[in-house]
Amino acid sequence: MAGKTYRIGVIGGDGTGPEVIREGKKVLEAAAKRNDFGIEWADYDLGGERYQRTGEILPDSVVEELRKLDVIYLGAIGHPDVQPGILEKGLLLRLRFELDQYINLRPVKLYPNVDTPLKDKTPEDVDFIVVRENTEGLYAGAGGVLRKGTPHEVAVQESINTRMGVERCIRYAFETCRKRAKRNKLTLCGKTNVLTYAFDLWERTFHEVAKEYPDIKTDYAHVDATTMWMVKNPEWFDVIVTDNMFGDIITDLGAMIQGGMGIAAGGNINPQGVSMFEPIGGSAPKYTGLNVINPMAAICAGGMLLDSLGESAAAEAVEQAVIKALSSGKIKSLAARKMGLSTTETGDLIAGLV
Ligand code: IPM
Ligand code: MN
Repeated sequence: MAGKTYRIGVIGGDGTGPEVIREGKKVLEAAAKRNDFGIEWADYDLGGERYQRTGEILPDSVVEELRKLDVIYLGAIGHPDVQPGILEKGLLLRLRFELDQYINLRPVKLYPNVDTPLKDKTPEDVDFIVVRENTEGLYAGAGGVLRKGTPHEVAVQESINTRMGVERCIRYAFETCRKRAKRNKLTLCGKTNVLTYAFDLWERTFHEVAKEYPDIKTDYAHVDATTMWMVKNPEWFDVIVTDNMFGDIITDLGAMIQGGMGIAAGGNINPQGVSMFEPIGGSAPKYTGLNVINPMAAICAGGMLLDSLGESAAAEAVEQAVIKALSSGKIKSLAARKMGLSTTETGDLIAGLV
């Protein structure tokens, strides 16, 4: 009997987004064929081009359509001719908020044969997951400005932390740690020594929820120290849970130690709703249309997407195909233009290994 057919929304977005998603689709199609499930793609024209053409960023009717899908596959958002913040807030953050994708899941995993800037560190040492809260904190948009443009200007940007939001994120992190069954250690990354309101809430919630997970060891690190340990002793980490802003910052560092933006993938997850998977690098406009961008991050995001649908065998096959491609020696570097293969050749290579 043939398996399920999934409806996957595709937002190629800006810059090189559509190019990397095209390769991701190839790989997911191959995985679907071999694992006996179907995919129905629903393409959405969203991003800087459409905004410049029509003034629309994300029509409400599109949000309603996206709500009915099984999952969303996103390329990149960000256009050099659009003022920073407009597309990010109007499209990416709005989708995260409207679809209540309260987890941003970012694995930091160094694959074999990949260069890391960390001296003497191997794939054994760099293998952890960051669970970033994705709907609150400094990203909630609370605050305002007074007397703008005058010498007396006041700018306030507040971090919103709710017990509900913090607790569901922490609980998800404990579950992730238990399911992964690796080092069974969850580290809370915060700043309890300065942000004494917000991270007091995080810390109390963390210890309360921890009682339900006696099999998981708990640990705490301030965010500044976290960046230090990520470079010096990444092997100490198993799963890290943190707020939206700190998660944003430490996962760019995470991407670098796993080999760069060319391989770093993430998921915006609503465990009860519609999730959205994306390569975490930007739209890399200068490489647009040149067929030189690395599609591996998008492909890895596609693997995570399949896992979220419950297609774990297919997800595993995608990850193994990426590992085989890396071990083949055919990929010279993970950086755009230096791969030794084009974007499409890299996609073909991996699709053929699924
Ligand atoms: C990310 C990005 C976004 C964020 C930007 C583009 C709004 O940096 O996904 O990490 O800050 O969350
Ligand atoms: Mn970021």
